Amino acid sequence: MAKTVGIGITGGIAAYKIADLVSRLKKDGHEVIVMMTAAATNFITPLTMKTLSGREVLTDLWNEAQGFNVQHIDVAEQLDLLVIAPATANFIAKMAHGLGDDLLSTVVLANTAPVLVVPSMNTNMFENRIVQNNIAILQDYGYHFLEPGSGHLACGTAGRGRLPEVQDILHRIEELLSPKQDLKNKRIMVNAGSTREDIDPVRFITNRSTGKMGYALAREALSRGAEVILVSGPSQLAVPVGVRFIPVRSAQEMCEEMLKYQADCDIIIGAAAVGDFRVARVAGQKIKKTEDKTRQVVLELVENPDILKELGKRKTEHMIMVGFAAETENVLENAKKKLLSKNLDLIVANDVTVEEAGFAADTNVVTLIDRAGSCRPLPKMSKDEVAAAIIDSVVALL
Ligand code: PMT
Repeated sequence: MAKTVGIGITGGIAAYKIADLVSRLKKDGHEVIVMMTAAATNFITPLTMKTLSGREVLTDLWNEAQGFNVQHIDVAEQLDLLVIAPATANFIAKMAHGLGDDLLSTVVLANTAPVLVVPSMNTNMFENRIVQNNIAILQDYGYHFLEPGSGHLACGTAGRGRLPEVQDILHRIEELLSPKQDLKNKRIMVNAGSTREDIDPVRFITNRSTGKMGYALAREALSRGAEVILVSGPSQLAVPVGVRFIPVRSAQEMCEEMLKYQADCDIIIGAAAVGDFRVARVAGQKIKKTEDKTRQVVLELVENPDILKELGKRKTEHMIMVGFAAETENVLENAKKKLLSKNLDLIVANDVTVEEAGFAADTNVVTLIDRAGSCRPLPKMSKDEVAAAIIDSVVALL
């Protein structure tokens, strides 16, 4: 079905490739509203975009001749999807911090449709922590990102930062315009993040999980029509709007909450890094240092419940259960053992020693293994894309 797609072009060398994108969207029958920043007009002319899109290109916040009363509000209201491509580091920063100082940035602020951001820039700029933090902020707000490709860059270097192929951008646009609703009438429970095991009133044992992987799964399930229960350890991430959110702290608490809801669920996914051990006796007061420097403070640890194993024992015939295996060696072998011992249908083998994978990263590299023995390695992808692939596999199992 024809939709209205806003294409926001910012000032990067890949801007010329967007001409092809606009032309192909038009051929697919969509209405395309092109907006360009002042910098973008240095790379490709508004006339080219006007000719391809068949309508006036919007460049100026103050240009009433461009035909609308309050132009940025009016445009934003028409959009089914807003695509920012190429998205420069500067424009990503503006979006992440809510700046609205030109036509495109004010449209972004007034827009309520889904947003797809397609970054393209020099590798060092893309990997700069400031840029990555800004991307993380936008992902928390629910903005969709397409990972840049790797290869030779216009600045003469090689690495990550190339605009993805126009075909891949088109594919993602179509996915966002016609979201799959293949989890409609399904209830899914996802756990995410780390757990905290208290030592005394001020100290605890935890791990490096941020919740990014689990929250991405919750968002994906939600967008595909599921009712989502998100059981989360402490996390800095924004709670996806629309989920039933159950915040917990310890592994025991997480286990109790998940057992409570299990019977009502069709699908359970364990993405949390659950603490395997807790302190046997939590001190009632802060443990003090003493003058005796030879004194050893020994913490006795006992095992926490294995949540997925407990849920696995109570699994019903039509329930699908998915676990992760965070491994540092013998990844596939260990993952397969966990698949069987926890009575799961699918396990996501996650080698957490790989760069830009596992804990805290925005990307992940995983292999999906099911009970029938199928073993599907996935390339490095954003956690949103990994979540989509996992949900695709769950749907196939349903
Ligand atoms: O949160 P992020 O920063 O995005 O990081 C993502 C991640 C690395 C945490 C995630 O991708 C991941 O690998 N999660 C599983 C972490 C883990 O605890 O793996 P494990 O191999 O120790 O456990 C295997 C499975 O059993 C997991 O699904 C785990 O949730 C579950 N488990 C483990 C221990 C326990 N006591 N109870 C459990 O249910």
